[in-house]
Amino acid sequence: MVAKKNLCVLILAAGKGTRMKSSLPKPLHAVCGAPIISYILKAAQALGPAAIGVVVGHESAQVIEAVKAGLASWGVTAPVVFIEQKELTGSGSAVKAALPLLQKFEQVLILNGDTPLLSAQTLQQMMDDFSAKRSAATVLSVSVPNPYGYGRIVRNTQGDFESIVEEVDADAEIKKITEINSGMYVFNSKLLQAALSQLLPQGPKNEYYLTDTLYFIKQMNEPVCVFTAPDFTEALGVNSKAQLAEADQILRARVAVRLMEEGVTLINPQDVYIDDTVKIGADTIIYPGTYILGKTVIGKNCHIEGGVYIKDSTIADNVTLKMGTYVEESTIEETCQLGPYAHLRPQSVLKKGAKVGNFSEVKKSVIGEGSKVNHLSYIGDTQMGAGVNVGAGTITCNYDGKKKHQTIIEDHVFVGSNVNFVAPVTVRQYAKIGAGSTITKEVPARSLGIARSRQVVLENKGVKEND
Ligand code: UD1
Ligand code: CA
Repeated sequence: MVAKKNLCVLILAAGKGTRMKSSLPKPLHAVCGAPIISYILKAAQALGPAAIGVVVGHESAQVIEAVKAGLASWGVTAPVVFIEQKELTGSGSAVKAALPLLQKFEQVLILNGDTPLLSAQTLQQMMDDFSAKRSAATVLSVSVPNPYGYGRIVRNTQGDFESIVEEVDADAEIKKITEINSGMYVFNSKLLQAALSQLLPQGPKNEYYLTDTLYFIKQMNEPVCVFTAPDFTEALGVNSKAQLAEADQILRARVAVRLMEEGVTLINPQDVYIDDTVKIGADTIIYPGTYILGKTVIGKNCHIEGGVYIKDSTIADNVTLKMGTYVEESTIEETCQLGPYAHLRPQSVLKKGAKVGNFSEVKKSVIGEGSKVNHLSYIGDTQMGAGVNVGAGTITCNYDGKKKHQTIIEDHVFVGSNVNFVAPVTVRQYAKIGAGSTITKEVPARSLGIARSRQVVLENKGVKEND
C-alpha cells in the first residue's frame, strides 16, 4: 500500500494495566500466541500510515525491546516512533506526550493498546466515513451485551454525538447505555491539539480523558461523528485475565474458521489451540486437544491426533502424528509417521517415510528415508541414513559429561534391540548390530558388530521346586 503521507497512527500503551494483576506489561500478554500489541501494530500497518507512534510508560524498556524485536515478523514496515509518557495520568496525557509527532500530520488515528481483536478493515471503513463526512473527529462505537467498564456513547435527542462518559463517572441512566467507545478514533490533528489543551483532570483518579477531546471539538462547532461497527467483539478491551481469556477464545475461533474455509478438517474447533501464524494444508484432519503453535507449517492430508503439540516446525504432506506426540523446531518430510508419544526435540529432521514410534526421543538428528525408530529409543546428535531399522530400547550415548558427540549410522544398517552407541562412533552401511551390544568402535560395512558378554548356564542354580 502507498503510504498516506498525511496519516499517523498513535497507539496508547503506557498504562499500568493494574487490573491484569501481572508483572508482565499488558501489551506483551499473548493472545493466540502473539502479544496484544502485535495485533494493534499489524492493523495500523495495514492502513499504510507514514508513521506509527507508540506511547510507552509502565515498564517502557521491556515494551520497547519486545516491539522492536517483533516488528519485522509482524510485517510492520512503517517507521515506528516510541514516545515516553512520564506521568501516567490518563489516555489524554498519553496523547499530549505525543504532540511533537502529531503536529507533523493532518490526520491521526488513535488506538488503545489493549484491543487485540480489532480489524484493519473496520478501521479503514471508519477512516472512509471520516473523510466522506468531512468529520473533525470520529469515534468507533459498538453495541455490547455487557457494557460494564467501558465509556458509554451519549447521544442527543437527534441521535448525534454528545459526549463519552466513563463507567466510574456514569449515573444509573448512563450505565444502561449499551453503545460503547471502542478506544479507536480518527482526528483532524489541529483540532485534536486544540482540544487537548482544554483537558482538565476528571474522575476519582484525576485523569485526563482522551474521550473529553471529542466533547471539546464538538463545542468548537466542528463535526464529531460516531462510526458503529457491526461486530462488537472487535472492540473487546483486555483489562483483566478473564478478558484476556475471552480475547484468546474469540481469536482462536476466528483462526479455526479460516482454517476450515481453507479445507482443514477440525473434529472439534472449540478444542484446538492453533496460533494465528500457523499454516495448514487442505484435508489435514486435526483431532481435539492439539496445540499447533508459532511458525509451524503443515502440508495436506496429514492426520494429527489428540494431545499432539507442534511448535515452530515444518511438516510435509501425508504425515501422521499419533496421540501425544511432541514436536519442536523440527522438519518432517512426507508420509512420516510419529507416535503415539514420540518426542522430536529441536533440529531434528525426518526424511520421507521415516517412523519414530512409542516413547522414542530424537534430538538434533537426521533420521533417513524410510528409517524406523519405533520403540523406546533415544537418538541424539545422530546422522542416520536410509532404510535403517533401530531395535527397541536403543540409546545413543552422546554425552560424556562435558561434550556432545556424533553417532553416524549409514544406510540399511540393522540395529538389534537394547543397543548403546557410545559416541563418537560410526556404523557403516549394511552392518548389523547384535541385540544388547554396547558399541564403542566403528563397525565396518556389511559386518556384524556384537559387544556383549556370552551367556553362561549353571545347572541346578535355577528356582528350586519348594523355594
Ligand atoms: C478506555 C476509554 C473508554 C473505552 C475503553 C475501550 C478513556 C478515558 N476511556 O477506558 O472510554 O470504552 O478504553 O477499551 O480513554 N494509557 C496510556 N497512558 C495512561 C493511561 C492509559 O497510555 O496514562 C493507555 C493504556 O495503556 C491503554 C489505553 O490507554 O492501552 C486505555 O487505557 P485503559 O486504562 O485501559 O482505559 P479504559 O478504562 O479501558
Ligand atoms: Ca482498556
